[in-house]
Amino acid sequence: MPGTRFTDIRRFDTLDSTNRYLLEEARNGAPDGVVAVAEHQSAGRGRLGRRWEAPAGANLLLSVLLRPHLPHPHRHLAGVVVALAAGEAAESVAGLRLGLKWPNDLLGEDGRKVAGVLAEGDLSGGTGLPGSPGSPLAPIVVGIGINVNWPAADTDLPPDLMGVATSLRQQAGHPVDRDHLQNALLRALEPRRDDLDTAAGRLRQADEFRSRCTTIGTPVRIELADGEFEGTALDVTAEGHLVVEVEGSTRTVVAGDVIHVRPPA
Ligand code: BTN
Repeated sequence: MPGTRFTDIRRFDTLDSTNRYLLEEARNGAPDGVVAVAEHQSAGRGRLGRRWEAPAGANLLLSVLLRPHLPHPHRHLAGVVVALAAGEAAESVAGLRLGLKWPNDLLGEDGRKVAGVLAEGDLSGGTGLPGSPGSPLAPIVVGIGINVNWPAADTDLPPDLMGVATSLRQQAGHPVDRDHLQNALLRALEPRRDDLDTAAGRLRQADEFRSRCTTIGTPVRIELADGEFEGTALDVTAEGHLVVEVEGSTRTVVAGDVIHVRPPA
């Protein structure tokens, strides 16, 4: 994409996973801004070890390799800026204002999921040297799957996604051009990626996330690996974590710890 750092765009007809591919490229020293796009993934990865399924040639399956100067507690913001850029692109290309469900799903007006984001990297503590695991310069691969033209109708969906997933095409009422969407996303991502490098920039992105996050103000049931609790989502912190009010006190929830955020039963 001219005028951005995203000039090395690698396109594949089929790949196991664009995230897996860029994580390997990162280990081999690939720089900030490399993009991988696949028409089809044979082992697309979703959050928490789930699969991400999409038929060939219908949706946008894209990952970016980022090497931001990002302090460890702010690592969640790398996925947030991609979700915000995708929301901006959906608005400019398809005229849709998508909601952002914490931690970083994009939802249609009917609350069904249009896109999901998976950020991966070695977040463990390391030597602290630039580029080593856990250091502020350690690579992060952020992948996004956007349901662009699939499903075209609810009947296209497997039973487990019925009533859960939707597409830009369904929301807009007409097919959406994937190349335009990809270009708009990368253009929108450029200044947001810059923002990850500075404290003021990170605050700006967290503020925008807060203002777009449809989870705030809603009752939530938070499922963690070691239990669950219910409360009301109050706020998003400067690091992108969710603040939940639980019986008069507050709990801060970190994205990586969460299995599900749902309305209470
Ligand atoms: C989620 O579970 O909501 C996150 C889904 C992320 C899917 C995208 S598709 C492109 C990239 N490559 C992958 O293997 N996963 C991400």
